[in-house]
Amino acid sequence: MKTPSDKVALITGSSRGIGLAIAKRLCQDGYRVVLNSSKEVSLSPATQELAQQFGEDRIFGVTSDVSDEQSVRVMFERIQSHWGRLDVLMNNAGISPRLNGEKPTVETTPAEHWLQTIAINLTGTFYTCKYALPLMKPQGWGRIINMSSQAGRMFTGFASAHYSASKAGIIGFSRVLAGEVGEFGITVNCISPGKIQTSMAASYAKAKEVEDVYRAKTPLQRVGDVEDVVGAVSFLASADANFMTGSVLDVTGGFYMP
Ligand SMILES: NC(=O)c1ccc[n+]([C@@H]2O[C@H](COP(=O)([O-])OP(=O)(O)OC[C@H]3O[C@@H](n4cnc5c(N)ncnc54)[C@H](OP(=O)(O)O)[C@@H]3O)[C@@H](O)[C@H]2O)c1
Repeated sequence: MKTPSDKVALITGSSRGIGLAIAKRLCQDGYRVVLNSSKEVSLSPATQELAQQFGEDRIFGVTSDVSDEQSVRVMFERIQSHWGRLDVLMNNAGISPRLNGEKPTVETTPAEHWLQTIAINLTGTFYTCKYALPLMKPQGWGRIINMSSQAGRMFTGFASAHYSASKAGIIGFSRVLAGEVGEFGITVNCISPGKIQTSMAASYAKAKEVEDVYRAKTPLQRVGDVEDVVGAVSFLASADANFMTGSVLDVTGGFYMP
């Protein structure tokens, strides 16, 4: 546990899975942490857990749907009035809808699944960045870390088109934003995990078969755990990554090698 600081980190989609693990790690790194998800019923237990572990004055839970601009705007107003600053934005909230537990093809993907996936994964990332910048720019410092995926880097055979398109879009979006905000001391990078054991990964009816294929094709011969991802975020948020922007950090056990 590092010395607590005043710095504030927001992790979207941090009620469970990778986001909750990142939130715990950034608490250990000394940040004050804003937890977020779209449902109070899932956010509240996570907020209570971290408040007990790290102190009530270090944790702030804000329910907000990142695909709704008005809801995102209100979340940032609440962060501004609660703590008055934002140093790290980790855009982690994401979905990967299945069709009866299976990966839909382009032909079978319902339009509403396509629109919802793009709205949460990609447009949600745009909204949070848009409202984080007015807090970060006056500080002359900020870290934006966007959650892509190996599905945004390559053809995996596991991911559907809506999810892959949203995750590839996040990489393109992040490059342009990195170019726009570097002069304000703000860096923008992506992390791109491989298969990580969470409820999202388990929601696939063929999860076990996918895991077996993943193990066979991955030099490290295993799927990842949420703890495998948090170090990359901790690094990109830290001063050790001061000269990195517009990059993508792959955390795939070697499944994806450029
Ligand atoms: N697991 C993997 O293998 C893997 C691999 C590569 C990348 N990723 C990416 O890593 C991120 C986390 O994945 P995960 O596996 O931890 O998923 P997860 O367990 O399903 O968690 C997703 C989180 O996002 C929140 N969320 C969903 N919709 C939201 C919205 N509209 N607004 C705000 N929060 C929302 C969820 O909470 P509520 O439902 O309460 O809103 C939950 O906290 C995602 O972006 C995912 O694409 C995952």
